[in-house]
Amino acid sequence: MASDRLAALKAFDETKAGVKGLVDAGVKAVPDIFRHPPDPLSPCTKVAAIPVVDLSGPRSEVVAAVREAARTAGFFQLVNHGVPEAAMSGMLAAVRRFNEEPAEAKAPYYTRDAARRVRYNCNADLFRTMVGKWRDTIYMDDVDRLAAGEEEEVLPPACRGVAPKYTAQVRMLGRALFELLSEALGVRRGYLAEEAGCLETLSVAGHYYPACPEPHLTLGAVRHNDPGFLTVLLQDGVGGLQVLTDVEDGEGNVSAAWADVPAVPGALVVNVGDFLQLVSNDRFRSVAHRVVANSVGPRMSVACFFRAKGATVCAPVAMDGGGPPRYRTVTAEELLRSSGKQNGLRDVRL
Ligand code: OGA
Ligand code: NI
Repeated sequence: MASDRLAALKAFDETKAGVKGLVDAGVKAVPDIFRHPPDPLSPCTKVAAIPVVDLSGPRSEVVAAVREAARTAGFFQLVNHGVPEAAMSGMLAAVRRFNEEPAEAKAPYYTRDAARRVRYNCNADLFRTMVGKWRDTIYMDDVDRLAAGEEEEVLPPACRGVAPKYTAQVRMLGRALFELLSEALGVRRGYLAEEAGCLETLSVAGHYYPACPEPHLTLGAVRHNDPGFLTVLLQDGVGGLQVLTDVEDGEGNVSAAWADVPAVPGALVVNVGDFLQLVSNDRFRSVAHRVVANSVGPRMSVACFFRAKGATVCAPVAMDGGGPPRYRTVTAEELLRSSGKQNGLRDVRL
């Protein structure tokens, strides 16, 4: 019964201890609220062909590589990106440290109130989807822009010092990426950052995917597209991220299947989000992805989402050979709302 399910979700949520709390309590089976219907797509049998982009190459080559990757795979592995190794390992360690604090230390941060700058929860959308995903997350918005003295007030001790610095590094990298992507579209270098609002907000999600006793029955993240412009993902060595790809059976039949995104040491995974697909008028692709649950975790990942402020207007950019606009002009807030669905761009397509 739906009311039983809601009661079970509420009881779980009120522990404010997330999936980590279940695992610490010794669960040996995946509770019903975390069980997913079997995926109709065939199970993953291959490693995704994700291009590698080396930022240290000659500029014209980097622009071409970024253009090709954003146009085809929608994902790339970024190397020589300039984010120091210590900042990356420090950030993963902070996410681990926070999630492995005693439940009492985490509970004060447990919320789904978007007005709060730091939010810890098990699935921001738990009561919308009513199906749990095997992960807990700490969200931190624009924490590189905290005023002096604000850090202690806002951030949990595990993330102080580390998250603001990592966010600042990623915002700097974002500036460089948006310049390359602007050039790749054939528009002014500053277009995406300055006119499209790509650098306006940077939300960091520190994900913690505990080891699961029955990983085949649940998921770490269900199929989705990222709503923002670009996501910069830092992942540890465990793996689990998969992208939706086309596979051919040798007789010319094409079908969709999941493929693993490998964990490449030192690399950052960059992917195009719905906002950028819209602004690029479909030149760049926002590709569906998910995360499978694992039995060897915890797995940590840190997803940095570049978005525009709610009131910012998003529209396809006029570019040479870009053709007529394929999307309506919308505010970022509208786009974010429709992006919560599986194919958010369907609602705004002309
Ligand atoms: C996300 C996401 C992937 C991962 O946060 O949107 O897709 O590997 N994360 O954690
Ligand atoms: Ni995602």
